[in-house]
Amino acid sequence: MSAVAANGLVKHFSPDIRAVDGIDLDIPEGQVFGFLGQNGSGKTTTVRMLTTLLRPTAGTARVGGIDVLADPDRVRKLVGVALQEVGLDDLQTGREQLSLQSRLFGISSGETRRRVDHLLEIVSLTDAADRPVKGYSGGMKRRLDLACALVHEPRIIFLDEPTTGLDPVTRDQVWRYVEELNRDGVTFFLTTQYLEEADRLCHDIAIMDRGRIVAKGSPAELKSSIGTDAITVLFASDDDAQRADSRIRQLPGIDSTALAGREVVAYLRNGASAVAGIVLALNDAGLTVSELRLAQATLDDVFLRATGHHLEVDKRVEVAAVAGGAA
Ligand SMILES: Nc1ncnc2c1ncn2[C@@H]1O[C@H](COP(=O)(O)OP(=O)(O)OP(=O)(O)O)[C@@H](O)[C@H]1O
Ligand SMILES: [Mg+2]
Repeated sequence: MSAVAANGLVKHFSPDIRAVDGIDLDIPEGQVFGFLGQNGSGKTTTVRMLTTLLRPTAGTARVGGIDVLADPDRVRKLVGVALQEVGLDDLQTGREQLSLQSRLFGISSGETRRRVDHLLEIVSLTDAADRPVKGYSGGMKRRLDLACALVHEPRIIFLDEPTTGLDPVTRDQVWRYVEELNRDGVTFFLTTQYLEEADRLCHDIAIMDRGRIVAKGSPAELKSSIGTDAITVLFASDDDAQRADSRIRQLPGIDSTALAGREVVAYLRNGASAVAGIVLALNDAGLTVSELRLAQATLDDVFLRATGHHLEVDKRVEVAAVAGGAA
């Protein structure tokens, strides 16, 4: 049975805001599934529909085999959700929040104490457990929210950017816990901006762009679909890059190229043997190369190919600025 299945799922907030524009999903039980996409691509909206927090405009979805529209209460009992916007009560302590959450799911007080202690340990909040949440840092709140999503030991867990804003050590702890639960068969649906983490941890990923899925598969499949190597060439201007792109594309052995601002990336099987040919061809065309890099293709390359822009966190602002400038 699929843990999560969606068919033609749509959410339009208005005729102009097509947040999710017809997506299909089929996530087997026991997977760690990564949902990637830049700001505003529709990730959170999808998570909210799948977890019954938002009514789809069209389409159907089943979670744990249960229709989200027909039986939302059963879906809610089955899933754990940690949304991007942390929803915590500032006046309570961390321990109180977790305990309350546990009791709301009908878990006994003895079992609640055991689980709460364990979860506080996992998210490194044992020392802060008895302080009011209003004194927590952003990262601490996020960790507490994550623990709240896990307290009823759900079989399907949705985590919307669970590690954004966490320091690297805590991020690793969170992933270790995800892996540990996944070994016990828990399915994860997670969104993340960290492509390396998605590459390492997710069995399958989907890349969202403007409300649609533009690429889907295992990280290895996706990377090999564009070629094993990536040669990135940087130019002095967008114009030069554009001219270079059409030149490089015609060279033998090049599978495909992607153009992003002043940068052209060529995907191919045997990068080392092609470098000289590229440099010569560009030289002939009177194009000056500012920088050239040869590396193995990564998920960022897959992302760039599928969407025409990078996803890396530090480049998000740049992408937004470019989009704003063009409008
Ligand atoms: N309640 C709402 N009313 C109107 N528009 C909305 C609403 N929620 C989301 N949107 C719009 O829908 C689009 C998708 O938003 P969503 O939050 O799903 O994106 P996201 O991929 O999660 O982005 P981010 O990476 O920033 O979290 C955006 O254009 C957003 O502005
Ligand atoms: Mg979001």
